[in-house]
Amino acid sequence: MAPGLMPEFLLGLALKAIYLMLPAYAANMAPVLFRKRLGFLAFPLDFGLEFMGKPLLGPHKTFRGLAAGVAFAVAVAFAQRIFELSGLLESLAVLEYSGWLYIGLLMGFGAILGDSMKSFAKRRAGISPGRPWMPFDQLDFAFGSLLFLIAYRWVGVPVFIAALASSLVLHVLVNHAAFYIGVRREKW
Ligand code: CTP
Ligand code: MG
Repeated sequence: MAPGLMPEFLLGLALKAIYLMLPAYAANMAPVLFRKRLGFLAFPLDFGLEFMGKPLLGPHKTFRGLAAGVAFAVAVAFAQRIFELSGLLESLAVLEYSGWLYIGLLMGFGAILGDSMKSFAKRRAGISPGRPWMPFDQLDFAFGSLLFLIAYRWVGVPVFIAALASSLVLHVLVNHAAFYIGVRREKW
């Protein structure tokens, strides 16, 4: 590849990775959007259990977050299928979306499961729910959803790496923006 084409290649790769990860981003944002809704689903994923004297996952991981995350991921994957059928954003798609339901379910469950595994480790490390824990808070959902996705469809090494890197960068940018406009208490 001519050296002048490198930035263009990397930008293209990043955009493809971000498009691939949209269901995971939706799954990661959904629990926050539903924090004050669907009260009947608000019970904790760990049923309040403790492990070695500390909460298993902590009170911030709820069935409400799981349900909202999976529903949002499926909705986004469905939208990607509609885009595909309409020929929109064709050049960004790494996947074929006829299996949108699997893609949505896998990425949604993967994102929330990755996030919960992170909380499990975070509680063992003695860090309270909601306190930042870099870079795990930023990568948990991306890693989880990618692992579940590649069990269904391999995306290639460059896209895999770009998906993790783009997720980290976007997560930091979005959280900082949310902090400065006052909708988040933690910058990270
Ligand atoms: N949330 C939820 N259920 C989930 C995941 C998240 O209800 N399965 C909601 C909680 O209200 C949580 C918020 O989304 O406070 C933000 O989620 P996240 O940043 O992932 O959790 P933290 O509050 O940082 O908790 P932890 O330290 O356990 O990661
Ligand atoms: Mg957090």
